[in-house]
Amino acid sequence: MVLTQAQLEQFDRDGYLFFPNHFSAEEIKKLTDEVPHLYAQQRPENVREKGTNAVRTNFAAHMYSEPYARLARHPRMIKPVEQVFGESLYMHQFKINVKQAFDGDVWQWHQDYGTWLNDDEMPEPRAMNIAIFLDEVNEFNGPLMFIPGSHKLGVLDAGHDLTTTSYPLWTIDNDSITKLVGRGGIVAPKGPAGSMIMFHSCLVHASSSNLSPWNRVSVYLSLCAVSNHIRRFKRAGYIAHRDFAPITC
Ligand code: SIN
Ligand code: MN
Repeated sequence: MVLTQAQLEQFDRDGYLFFPNHFSAEEIKKLTDEVPHLYAQQRPENVREKGTNAVRTNFAAHMYSEPYARLARHPRMIKPVEQVFGESLYMHQFKINVKQAFDGDVWQWHQDYGTWLNDDEMPEPRAMNIAIFLDEVNEFNGPLMFIPGSHKLGVLDAGHDLTTTSYPLWTIDNDSITKLVGRGGIVAPKGPAGSMIMFHSCLVHASSSNLSPWNRVSVYLSLCAVSNHIRRFKRAGYIAHRDFAPITC
């Protein structure tokens, strides 16, 4: 897949692109069939929700699950991101976020690059997020929310939140979010399983809890330009990878 000039301009303006139905039902089934096996494993890569046994995030499945290993080098995501950065990529982070029916907790407002800079010393915001929906995402099951254009503001002040959820995150305070939303509004791309979002690592985003009876399982790849690899190895290797070898599709 090659991004058109219009898509590149839209990405530059809004900070994200949405591709409904990017993967077929058959492809998605290969991935969803694997999810219960991954979550059943007792391993540090499974981070559980606060106060319940429900898995919140599974890290690095591409290292120990064949369908996810294949997904992690699929040209349908790798090629357009290589196009944007003009160089080869490595996998900085790979996760499956569950947001289980009734139990799925919030992700507070944040920028991913804030964490990658503060924790991992990634030199520049030359890493891209890809989200792939393994379930339908609708207005009830905690869709990802974006503030369009917020990526243009660079790295915003953030505080390290260690208490709200089970996963530590550099989050942006409510006053700042109010100002940003006043300027850019909020969007929440929704669509069937198999849809894909590509979003800038400085785009401010969040998602609310899932009180619906529908799971919202999504896979996230964070693809970093090889020359922009992280310089600090503070976090576990399964959260911030140290293998900077270029991905071959
Ligand atoms: C994230 O920001 O890393 C995850 C957000 C979500 O899954 O809703
Ligand atoms: Mn994020």
